[in-house]
Amino acid sequence: MSYKQTFFWSVDNFLNKDQHSECIREAAMWITKGEVVAFPTETVYGLGANALDETAVKKIFEAKGRPSDNPLIVHIASVSQLDQLVTAIPSVAKQLMDQFWPGPLTIILNKKESVAKSVTAGLDTVAIRIPDHPIAIELLKLADVPVAAPSANLSGKPSPTSGKHVYHDLKGRIVGILDGGQTGVGLESTVLDCSKEIPVLYRPGGVTIEEIEAVIGKIKVDPSLKSKDEVPLSPGMKYTHYAPDGTFVLVRDQKQIPVLLAKAKAEGKRTGVLTTKENVDTYEADVIVSCGSRADLASVANQLYESLRTFDEKKAEIIFSETFPYENLGIAIMNRLEKAAGGSIF
Ligand code: TXA
Ligand code: MG
Repeated sequence: MSYKQTFFWSVDNFLNKDQHSECIREAAMWITKGEVVAFPTETVYGLGANALDETAVKKIFEAKGRPSDNPLIVHIASVSQLDQLVTAIPSVAKQLMDQFWPGPLTIILNKKESVAKSVTAGLDTVAIRIPDHPIAIELLKLADVPVAAPSANLSGKPSPTSGKHVYHDLKGRIVGILDGGQTGVGLESTVLDCSKEIPVLYRPGGVTIEEIEAVIGKIKVDPSLKSKDEVPLSPGMKYTHYAPDGTFVLVRDQKQIPVLLAKAKAEGKRTGVLTTKENVDTYEADVIVSCGSRADLASVANQLYESLRTFDEKKAEIIFSETFPYENLGIAIMNRLEKAAGGSIF
């Protein structure tokens, strides 16, 4: 499917409230008509379609070039919509919803028949969250259906954290984009399977393991998040993701980065470094990008994907990246960097 024009609805501050709502109403209208539109959430931009309409959901997979065995997250505006999606809500799930919704926690539960098959890629479970973003909530309310939405990037590319990123990837492939500027968290939601006796973490994200365990006690963590030799339990986690066009190498020992840069330069390559505010002055490379401060990992999460996209814009051929501690938000940041590197760790 291709579109002559992709609407770019700028829901920005210079618009008054009425113009603002008009844009969102138009986007919601397209969703009810079975089309696909991109919208901002607090994590990354989503690519939404009516989760109860099989034909509409298939258009998401087509627009992204997403493998059909990779299930989508269903977005709702209120817990009252859960009834049409899931068979039961276990008490741990209820506690987590009370604590973290709206917010960057996706909860997997046993699904009802009404959910379109392609949303769940044939699984018996469905992933659900309430996003914490005024534009997303208004859109969901106006569309008045649960909205299936993966991140609004081309499959394999970093998730979009601005309307511009979505336009770059999906122009001509979808009806429209609701642009609400830069997203807040910057990394995708945490994905937790609560259909199991003890909840299992499939994807680290905006809500940390530490925060979840403070509410419901010990959870399990998908073994593949700790060892490259294990097959991920969640379909989407087996794919390479977030990769810049150039070779992306994670470097544990920061002192090695200048050595590796010098070698790449000698080989005639256009070099890049992904660094932090604290170290930005210590390297010589063609493209140097600081993705925030080590003292504030939320700033790194917020800028990570924009930073990865910069290397493509500036055509870096080989990029060396610093690493982060495996704790709190650092776990999600390292998970995305490891995927971007596709196992290439020095
Ligand atoms: O923050 C986010 O979660 C964003 C925004 C738009 O909400 N969405 C997002 O969606 O990141 P996506 O499709 O890029 O990632 C969804 C992840 C995939 O890894 C998928 O395999 C997993 O959730 N998933 C979805 N349903 C599942 C299920 N029933 N069982 C296991 N994993 C599931
Ligand atoms: Mg994604």
